[in-house]
Amino acid sequence: MIALCSRSVHDTHAIAGVLAGLARPSDVIILAGDMGAGKTAFAVGFAQHLGVSDDEMVASPTFTLVHTHDSGRLPLLHADVYRLNHVGEVSDLGLLEQADMGRVVLVEWGNVVADVLGDVLTVELMPLDDDENGRNVLITSTGQAWATRWKQLERELTAWDELAC
Ligand SMILES: Nc1ncnc2c1ncn2[C@@H]1O[C@H](COP(=O)(O)OP(=O)(O)OP(=O)(O)O)[C@@H](O)[C@H]1O
Ligand SMILES: [Mg+2]
Repeated sequence: MIALCSRSVHDTHAIAGVLAGLARPSDVIILAGDMGAGKTAFAVGFAQHLGVSDDEMVASPTFTLVHTHDSGRLPLLHADVYRLNHVGEVSDLGLLEQADMGRVVLVEWGNVVADVLGDVLTVELMPLDDDENGRNVLITSTGQAWATRWKQLERELTAWDELAC
């Protein structure tokens, strides 16, 4: 587990940028945390650091569950499964199929349906009690997908060490 401290949206964007820099085709990343924790903010930072164009980001309607962004370094799919009630509905979105085709897949609320997402990296954002712009950020992984990148991930994230929180 990597435990970090974000003190601002800017920090969260920068942390997301480190992950985006190390991302590979077919990575599945779960974004966990309560409403307003910063999952979408993380996804926006991630997309920006992949080089997704602003036009493509702005064109994303908020009511759609799944957005694809293909103008960056890697093709990206960003989904929010909050409104889905059943694991079956999430399976129907075909997120794993999209990952198999090479997309990096970010799934807000994906922790609720982790069983159908295979090996994942999970980023959990938790608000701090004493700072409305502060978040604890916990990164964990299952499977081997991030094993060879873990040390580098830790190294590149040292600036946001949790002790700062
Ligand atoms: N350190 C921080 N990291 C991320 N967002 C922050 C931070 N500090 C303040 N914020 C603010 O918190 C809000 C996070 O909203 P966001 O839509 O990203 O949350 P969310 O987790 O996606 O919520 P939802 O579950 O409703 O989709 C934004 O208004 C953002 O500006
Ligand atoms: Mg959101």
